[in-house]
Amino acid sequence: MSFKFTEENLKRIEQSRKKYPTALAAVMDTVYIAQEQNGYISTEVMAEIADVLGIDKVNVLSVVTFYTMYHTKLMGKYHVQVCTNVSCMLRGGYEIWEQVKNKFGLDNMQTSADGKFSVEEVECMGACGFAPMIAVNEDFYENLTKEKVEEILDSLK
Ligand code: FES
Repeated sequence: MSFKFTEENLKRIEQSRKKYPTALAAVMDTVYIAQEQNGYISTEVMAEIADVLGIDKVNVLSVVTFYTMYHTKLMGKYHVQVCTNVSCMLRGGYEIWEQVKNKFGLDNMQTSADGKFSVEEVECMGACGFAPMIAVNEDFYENLTKEKVEEILDSLK
């Protein structure tokens, strides 16, 4: 299935491109815009990003597969990411990860049958000083306890 950016998004990419000295440096902004439009980054989307920026496809692939904010498949309406890296691990990150998986009956990178929830174990999300933390889509929740996690997950329904 082919993918083309909308005219509006092409303009956004052009604006973003002006902020950086090279087209390669604009790849993260462009991938973000692509994910907003398509929901996830497929092979076709990566090809279009490379084409629009005039860069090699491998540069797009390396960014998409490195950062957990980008997805190569469609995730749930609420994508719950749980950090289990050192600071979060030391403050209960693995217990929270088990709690989240059990809550939805899902394993890593799985999506519920109704498309509402998906879960992902992630490495450090840069909020170590507020560990343990989770993210729901683009919202961070920090200094968590199991009770607070339960409240957050219940509020998503
Ligand atoms: S270790 Fe969890 S946010 Fe850094």
